[in-house]
This record gives sequence, structure tokens and C-alpha cells, in this order.
Amino acid sequence: MTSAAELGLDNPLRDPQDRRLPRIAGPCGVVLFGVTGDLARKKLIPAIYDLANRGLLPPGFALIGFARHDFGEQGFAQLAKKAAKAGARTPWRESTWKQLFAGVRFVEGSFDDDTAWEKLSHTLAELDEKQGTQGNHAFYLSIPPGLFPVVVSKLKQHGLAQAPGDAWRRVVIEKPFGHDLESAQQLNEIVAEVFPPESVFRIDHYLGKETVQNILAFRFANGMFEPVWNSHYVDHVQITMAEDIGIGTRAGYYDGIGAARDVIQNHLLQLMALVAMEEPVSLNAASLRIEKQKILANARPPQRLDLHTSHAQYTTGWAGGEEVAGYLEEEGIPADSTTETYAAIRLDIETRRWAGVPFYLRVGKRLGRRVTEVAVVFKRAPHLPFQSTDVEELGQNALVMRIQPDEGVTLRFGAKVPGTVMEIRDVNMDFAYGGTFVEDSPEAYERLILDVLLGDPPLFPQHEEVELAWEILDPIIRHWSRKKSIDTYPAGTWGPQSADAMIARDGRRWRRP
Ligand code: BG6
Repeated sequence: MTSAAELGLDNPLRDPQDRRLPRIAGPCGVVLFGVTGDLARKKLIPAIYDLANRGLLPPGFALIGFARHDFGEQGFAQLAKKAAKAGARTPWRESTWKQLFAGVRFVEGSFDDDTAWEKLSHTLAELDEKQGTQGNHAFYLSIPPGLFPVVVSKLKQHGLAQAPGDAWRRVVIEKPFGHDLESAQQLNEIVAEVFPPESVFRIDHYLGKETVQNILAFRFANGMFEPVWNSHYVDHVQITMAEDIGIGTRAGYYDGIGAARDVIQNHLLQLMALVAMEEPVSLNAASLRIEKQKILANARPPQRLDLHTSHAQYTTGWAGGEEVAGYLEEEGIPADSTTETYAAIRLDIETRRWAGVPFYLRVGKRLGRRVTEVAVVFKRAPHLPFQSTDVEELGQNALVMRIQPDEGVTLRFGAKVPGTVMEIRDVNMDFAYGGTFVEDSPEAYERLILDVLLGDPPLFPQHEEVELAWEILDPIIRHWSRKKSIDTYPAGTWGPQSADAMIARDGRRWRRP
């Protein structure tokens, strides 16, 4: 493991405020609820291993699994090792695992079983003493929101929410934060009764992505883009989150939730807020939240929801050269389900900067390929001193922030085609992370888990943002449920005709990323 000296942490001249230096968590434990779930196995446990491997976790670190499974301490350690090995992004080192393993514990029991909670209490006390976690504990709720109330109230009842002395207790909540405004408010009340706001960390893993944080760097570290970042120059903005996968084994979670609640409510509205917000006075949590909230509070769908939204389900089609099932044929999906796997909406942001600039958001499973991007599409030049035949292929200038998988930024503009005539065609100017930096982007969960352990809040939405996002979506989802019918699109295509028609009505068309 990298030593403090190697990291330069023992340098007496080191400025503790210097954020370029690696930030290392202090002694603490993470209690993971929902250890057998997909997220814990595929993302959380590997991210914890990677943090340890990068030397960012302290020797006094513990990982405690809590579940209704009788695989015991050894069984849990094996599960964690397997998950870490399969999902780690850094090389496998037995020495890192050995060090982590010393702090791995498992508590068996159901969430309403007081004996199990007492055992958890003892385990944490023992770890504080033997492993040196010093009373600092994060409770990670990677469980369905229906279970939040019981877990949060048991944490309180067993005195686990309250830290002794200078120690801390934090609760980490995975989405979905409710299924509409009302349920989100209820959830928030339940959590707020037990934990103060600064101890609640709501995860939106998109905010942990390097390229999402780059939106802030791109906009506010540079002088040349801000002058054109407004309704004088921008025609519209398209935010796309396309996935080529179907719902896989997540029928239980996904059906009844659907694309809008699953990712527009959180990831896409957060992206929109970062693209549209004013410059915050600093990048601290309070300043960032104020600016994001102003955007969310002023964003609304146009009156005619039938014309400006589209929702659909995939039917049988093709993915990666193979024929794949439609949504209704997926395992665990009721044959009459009207849950959407595709959603497109138009939002208008009623501020001086964005008046008259539509933001089009679309998401879908089983689309043509996996890509998430934000495209700021500019107005055409007011006058073109060329023959119309010379510029036939000319589109609109666009600045595309490529969130994933091909991380980078593209500027699309017209250029002269080499030759003796003035022919102009669209070309791309590209910045690719892979070709510019030698460092790999850390996995979003690594960054977010480390921030939780450090108590660093800027990347975690507060309940106000969550509720504003529901206020935007609620009328749209209500409109869809009143409609009762749902459009379809074949797997492997770019969505339903109704989405094309929706944007075409405004004289525009979707980008084909
Ligand atoms: C999750 C959604 O939040 O994000 C999933 O619940 C989706 O449905 C996933 O597949 C996509 O995340 P990423 O990081 O692969 O874009």
C-alpha cells in the first residue's frame, strides 16, 4: 500500500487546503445494508477495494455487512473478495485484501430483528476498540426505499445514529428518493427525525463521474464559452442517456418505476442544472446547491404534455448482433405493464439566460448504443455569404460534452472541404480524456464513498433538489398514467416515432450520437 511519505503527506510544508493532494479518509467503518444486491456487489465493494488499493483508506477501516443471510463472517468475506476481484479497476493485490479483511465483519439478521441490531452495536464497539475505527461510522442504505423507515428507526433505537464525543455518524441513501413529491417528502421527514442534514448523503452517482464534474471546469475555468452560453447564441440543448442493455435481472426494481423516475428525476436533471446554472460564488456545497436549485425551481414542461413528452417500451429487436426479448417478455414483467423504458421530455427554463431555449432530455434502455452526452446546439449564423448548394450539408454548430463511454468534448462546426470550390461541411474538433491524460478516471463510487468518509458534501444533492426534481416530473408522470397506453420501439433502434415527432414539431431533430 502507498505510504504517507510516498503520497507526500508527511511534508511539513503541505497545505491542508491543497485539494490536488490525495485526500485520505480518517479511521471509520462502513455498514452496508443490502450486501447481496447488485449495486453492492458490482460497484460498492469493488470501489472500497480500489480506494484501499490506492492508499486512500486508513488502517483503521472496517466494512460490516448486514443481511438476512446465513453465510457467516467467512461467507461474507468470500462474497466481498469475489465481488472486489470481479469489479476492481485497480490491479488485484492480496496484501490490500488482507489488510481490508482484518476489518471485515458480518451481522446476520432481518431489519426488524432487535437481537441482530444489538449484535451490530457490539460489533461496531469491538471494531472501535480493536480495529481503531474510533466511533466513526457510515450507514450505507443500498436497499429499497420501503425499508428505509425501519432501518433508520432501528439505528436511532439502538443508539447508533448518535456518535460519542467528536466521532461522526452518517447515513448514505441510494435513489430512488421516493416515487413522487409526496413520498419523497415523507422519506425525508423520516430521515430528518434521526439524522441532521449535514449527516445525510444522498447518492446520485452521476455527480461522482469525472466528466460530469468537468462540466463545471469547462464552464467556469474558461473564459471563451460563457459569453455564448445563453439564449442569444444557444438554439437548444439535448441531454441524452442511452443504454444498449435491457432491464436484465432488475425487473423487481424497474417495473412500476420506469425510465423517468429511474434516471431523469436524478441524473438527467442534475446534468441539466449543472449545464444551465449561473456561476456559483464558490464550489462549496451551499453555493452549488443554491445555483442548481434556481434552475430546478424555474424549469417546467410546456403546457401541452401530449405534444412535448414521449414515453415508450422496447419490443423484440437486436442488441450486439443478437435477437433480444421485448420488455413485456422479460422475466418478472407483467404482460400488461405500462412502465416506460424510454422517456423524452422538453423543459423550458424560465430565466433571462435561457428564455426560449428548450432543453430536450431523453433516456432509454435497449437503444442503438450506450452513450451519455450533453449537446449544446447553437443558432445558425445570421447570414451565410455562400451559394446554398455549397453549404447543403451544414448543420448547426454544437458543443458536445461526452459523459461516457467515450469521455471528452467535441466541437462541431463547418469547415471548407479541400478543393477548388467553396464547399463547406460539418467537422469535429475533439478532446478525448483517454488521449490527453494518463490517469484513468476513478469510478464514480470511489469518489463518492471517499467524500462520505471525509464528510465532504458538494457532490450530494440535498432534499430541496430532490423535491424540486419531483415537482418537474410529477405532472408528466401523471399525464402518462392517465393515458394508459404506451408507444413502442424495437430494441436496438433510437426510440419511438412519437419522440421524433415531438422534437420535429419544434423544427429540430435528435442527434444520432
Ligand atoms: C442507474 C439506473 O442509476 O444508472 C440504471 O438505476 C442505469 O437503470 C444506471 O442502468 C446507469 O449508470 P451508468 O453509470 O452505467 O451510466
